[in-house]
Amino acid sequence: MTIQALRIARQPRALRRDRVLPPVPPPYRFLRESEESASLEAHFDAVPSPCFLLDESLLVRNLEILSRVQEEAGCTILAALKAVSMWSAFPVMRKYLRGATASSLNEVLLAKRELQRDVHAYAPAYSDDEFEAILPHVSHMTFNSFSQWQRFRGRVQDSGLNVSCAIRINPEHKEAAVDMYDPCGTNSRLGVTRQEFRPDLLEGIEGLHFHALCGCGSEALERTLAAVEEKFGEWLPLMKWVNFGGGHHITKEGYDIPRLIRLVKAFRERWNVEVILEPGEAVGWQTGWLVGTVLDVTRNGMDVAVLDVSAAAHMPDCLEMPYRPEIRGAGNPGEKAHTYRLGGVTCLAGDVIGDYSFDKPLEVGDRIVLEDMIHYTMVKTTFFNGVKHPAIAIRDTEGKLRVVRTFGYEDFRSRLS
Ligand SMILES: Cc1ncc(COP(=O)(O)O)c(C=O)c1O
Repeated sequence: MTIQALRIARQPRALRRDRVLPPVPPPYRFLRESEESASLEAHFDAVPSPCFLLDESLLVRNLEILSRVQEEAGCTILAALKAVSMWSAFPVMRKYLRGATASSLNEVLLAKRELQRDVHAYAPAYSDDEFEAILPHVSHMTFNSFSQWQRFRGRVQDSGLNVSCAIRINPEHKEAAVDMYDPCGTNSRLGVTRQEFRPDLLEGIEGLHFHALCGCGSEALERTLAAVEEKFGEWLPLMKWVNFGGGHHITKEGYDIPRLIRLVKAFRERWNVEVILEPGEAVGWQTGWLVGTVLDVTRNGMDVAVLDVSAAAHMPDCLEMPYRPEIRGAGNPGEKAHTYRLGGVTCLAGDVIGDYSFDKPLEVGDRIVLEDMIHYTMVKTTFFNGVKHPAIAIRDTEGKLRVVRTFGYEDFRSRLS
């Protein structure tokens, strides 16, 4: 079976538990695997361009931290697949984390088939057909509103499946620095506020779920927990589990891990509940790069370099957020001798990565290495303009390179009709 044939897109739309799951895929096959280990710099030159390159040792470093929290705090840590769905890395993730949280049927199937650990589901709303298809594969399911719970609770109960259900609550407590990423913003659709909470509909509900953070420290979690307890403490004694969502920047340097462990332990003991965390960014944080190549150097008031990577197609989060990715060996404009505006290869005028300076003039064929491009960036890529899609490669813990996926015309074509 080819790698392409293993792709999740070919799963049947609705799987039922009484049908046998498709067989577990055979061990992952690599398109290209180097026999020898080599330096990271050599791998930046060796990968196809453009290419996402994951460093397995850096992923393991993050997973070890998360696993330590899991053990010491006595909680469950799930990987949020919305941030990291690179399933060729799942065999490593599987060793450390208890499961994954999925936001759609596709993510549920990916977690079930490729990660083969517990699958929790949450979506701002489930459609009828996706709900049916998701239910047989999940151990936990969170509903975003009491109306969704009312719509589907009969089906959960009638299924005879052992699925533990929760309501997402909105503590209306602001911690996220950017409005676009703040689930507790004004008129947010995410979670039930205290005012809309329906204690009369709690029969069958075993958990509460909140997600209020984004790239935050544990002091932000402490304040959020206080808000949750103040607004929803009345119902916590009825619950078996509480999911603290994502947004915990646990693997970032300087994150106060001992405080997180204290908070989780104290909450567990105070309310006699199981605690679940579902970070995404913290799993993939600083684990790899997007490697591109200079295709042309031009001038319009300043030096401009066109790359074979695109902010619009390959790093849309840079335009959405917006934020300026770090580039290996480059500085701010004017900081080094040669400053360039780096632009993407699509026709969008705003497909600009930013202005950067370099020690030497850029030349066609030079490699450009964008830092920290694994979490969220890879899952958000598109085929806009039909531009060449970045390949995916892994540098394993022994320093060997594996190119696990390349993309071509058929991948572009198959998404559009
Ligand atoms: C419900 C939920 N859980 C978990 C996450 C993961 O958050 P992060 O990647 O910031 O840790 C998100 C991110 O949007 C989310 O919406």
